[in-house]
Amino acid sequence: MTAIVLYCRPGFEKECAAEITEKASWNEVFGFIKLKKNEGLVEFHLYEAKQADILIQKLPLKRLIFARQWFVTLGDIVELPEYNRVEAIAEALGDESHYQELRVETLDTNDGKALSKFGRKLSVPLRQHLRKTSVLAPLSKQQQEQERGAVSLHALFFSGQQVQLGYSYVRNSSVHEMGIPRLKFPNASPSRSTLKLDEAFLYFVPKEERETRLTSGMNAVDLGAAPGGWTYQLVRRGMMVKSVDNGPMAESLMETGQVKHYQQDGFKFRPHKKNTHWLVCDMIENSSRVAKLMASWIVDGDCKEAMFNLKLQPSKSRYQQVMKDIQAIKDIMSDNDIWYELYAKHLYYDREEVTVHLRVLTRT
Ligand SMILES: C[S@@+](CC[C@H](N)C(=O)[O-])C[C@H]1O[C@@H](n2cnc3c(N)ncnc32)[C@H](O)[C@@H]1O
Repeated sequence: MTAIVLYCRPGFEKECAAEITEKASWNEVFGFIKLKKNEGLVEFHLYEAKQADILIQKLPLKRLIFARQWFVTLGDIVELPEYNRVEAIAEALGDESHYQELRVETLDTNDGKALSKFGRKLSVPLRQHLRKTSVLAPLSKQQQEQERGAVSLHALFFSGQQVQLGYSYVRNSSVHEMGIPRLKFPNASPSRSTLKLDEAFLYFVPKEERETRLTSGMNAVDLGAAPGGWTYQLVRRGMMVKSVDNGPMAESLMETGQVKHYQQDGFKFRPHKKNTHWLVCDMIENSSRVAKLMASWIVDGDCKEAMFNLKLQPSKSRYQQVMKDIQAIKDIMSDNDIWYELYAKHLYYDREEVTVHLRVLTRT
């Protein structure tokens, strides 16, 4: 049976499953879920096989909050022999389809991590073999833009003896294996949280727009800033930052001369001038209060873009909670005739939170 396989953070399978089921149904695609808890993997089995391909083209992966990556299965799990695994995989694939690239993947679990070395080793002869038989045959840029576009081949290893093969569209999948970007922790940052904002900027702001939207000389406000991991990301991009938190900020950041510390309540703080581009917020506070606060900054013209975390409550249905908070923001935007862009993602460096990016496009 054909399924769409989705990767998510282990422990969030239920959220990922609820989301794909609902968003597929909006596209009139229906199926059932199979998942194992804490494996970071969800299978959405389609009642009509051909709908898997339709959905994975039509529904932007960027519109899914909890899925990091996805692919459509090619057949059942392939049982591999002790030797000649490459030949067994090649045989299962046949030579009719052509792929842009090969993604050798494992689960984001301890067992999966232990297996990833094996995967990396096997990927070398596998890639060579598939290139020789033209199963891996990268398209030119021009060809990629035509028709269905380039397709990636996924090989998800559950063990040395079992692999699930599948495909995704390059234009509608994550560029990272298993949807996981590997960022280097900057030693000068006062906290590990810094990686969350770094990943968010890379994920939500397209490369070609970073020079104008994330640039030196801009003004930014950081709510819930202490000790300064997020402020560090703004400072390192040359911005002038108002950091709001009752807690202390790292001395190293204060010494840059780019940071002003306000020991105030983040719900009450507002800048005097309307010259703030970025509002970022990592306050550990009720998510619906934060959502409304962010929307009000945009409505009042106090920032142009906001990047913030909505903290998830484990006792609640976390998917429903996020959808409710997002809907509240959308309602405020439409009540105020604001044309906006909004995306939310459970990023790799997020834990019990999702990151939201809200950006004003025009006001009517
Ligand atoms: C997760 S920490 C922020 C970490 C920070 N982003 C970093 O990278 O170092 C949450 C912070 O929110 C602050 N906070 C919580 N509620 C707040 C409020 N109402 N006003 C201002 N700060 C608040 C806390 O004092 C705490 O320092």
